[in-house]
Amino acid sequence: MTLALIAAQANNHVIGRGNLIPWKVDGEQQLFKSITMGGTLIMGRKTHNSIGRPLPGRRTIVVTRNDKLKFNGCSVCNSLETALNRAEAFDQPIFIAGGGELYRQAIGKVEEIHLTTIDIEVEGDIYFPEVPKDFKIIDQQHYSTNFNYTYQLLRRN
Ligand SMILES: NC(=O)c1ccc[n+]([C@@H]2O[C@H](COP(=O)([O-])OP(=O)(O)OC[C@H]3O[C@@H](n4cnc5c(N)ncnc54)[C@H](OP(=O)(O)O)[C@@H]3O)[C@@H](O)[C@H]2O)c1
Repeated sequence: MTLALIAAQANNHVIGRGNLIPWKVDGEQQLFKSITMGGTLIMGRKTHNSIGRPLPGRRTIVVTRNDKLKFNGCSVCNSLETALNRAEAFDQPIFIAGGGELYRQAIGKVEEIHLTTIDIEVEGDIYFPEVPKDFKIIDQQHYSTNFNYTYQLLRRN
């Protein structure tokens, strides 16, 4: 089962400010939905808190070090490794869905990265990590809505 990571960044690699994504790009959420539908999302507790609910049509695994936490409609795991094992048992494509802390830990493990880059510079405090050099772009699409943005699919060589 493919292990992928999915993220949207600004040109300056910002992915978040506080617990929010600091832009609203028409069409970008539909892209996220179409790529992840039917799959399993693994996300950090802070990202889950900011979304506030499980996303329909996908399983959600929330990673937290707090063993007491429970989230409606989601599985909860206390390490990334446990989450990955749980996700594999679901036998559906697996997407690391953020945020910054999860991306940093997972980018060395994933086979594919679905990376959308929005053509803006924004202030923020959460950044996308450097993409390892062994990833190559295998697909690319440009979009123009209220912002210009580019979707790239990168695969590890
Ligand atoms: N632009 C995008 O594509 C995108 C996507 C997703 C999120 N975001 C943004 O990213 C920001 C959130 O990112 P973040 O880095 O602050 O937080 P995060 O990665 O969403 O969550 C961090 C939390 O996850 C848990 N965690 C992390 N690693 C763990 C591990 N190995 N084992 C167990 N638990 C672990 C901890 O939860 P506990 O503290 O409960 O232990 C930690 O505090 C928000 O601004 C959000 O809007 C952007």
